[in-house]
Amino acid sequence: MVGKNCVAIASDTRLGAQAMTVDMNFPKIFPMTDHTMIGLAGLATDVLTLRDQFKYKVKMYHLKEDRVMAPRTLAHVVSSTLYEKRFGPYFVEPIVAGLDPRTHEPFICCTDTIGCIDFAKDFVVVGNATENLYGMCEGLWEPNLEPEDLFETISQALLNAVDRNALAGWGAVVHVITPERVITRNLKARCD
Ligand SMILES: *[C@@H]1O[C@H](CO)[C@@H](O)[C@H](O)[C@H]1NC(C)=O
Repeated sequence: MVGKNCVAIASDTRLGAQAMTVDMNFPKIFPMTDHTMIGLAGLATDVLTLRDQFKYKVKMYHLKEDRVMAPRTLAHVVSSTLYEKRFGPYFVEPIVAGLDPRTHEPFICCTDTIGCIDFAKDFVVVGNATENLYGMCEGLWEPNLEPEDLFETISQALLNAVDRNALAGWGAVVHVITPERVITRNLKARCD
């Protein structure tokens, strides 16, 4: 979600194989730079593979270009990395959220499994609970939220969405990225 000079990214913590819960504390959001994070929903092995691959590409860009990769640039790295595997795709839907390293302009986007980018000015959702999440986000989001209000909005949207999806939930993690710092909070959720 986009706020006023800030962005927030959140996920639940469940890992499952269909209805079987495998892990209740599986991280899906990873820092890429000081102001950019990537969220990866989908097949656990591909989540780990792509996390490492994106981290490597961001670091190599930093070494070669001598500047920090902007979130918009990372979005295109994500897109082309996934489209390279167009006919045998990674089963992962990524979200990029961050602030431009120079201007601190908020940026969010998500892509599908083959890297088609969805730029949005307000919010993006991926994963199994997208239908619930679209409903909650459409209802709760408003423009120019301050970091604490953005935290409350994204948290309520996520918790109320996953509580109506048996395959999602079991806890949540929320990051609010501001120019000064990243605020990370772990949320408790229903486990049923
Ligand atoms: C969520 O997963 C279930 C079981 O795999 C599937 O039937 C359902 O269509 C999925 N929902 C979405 C929105 O992808």
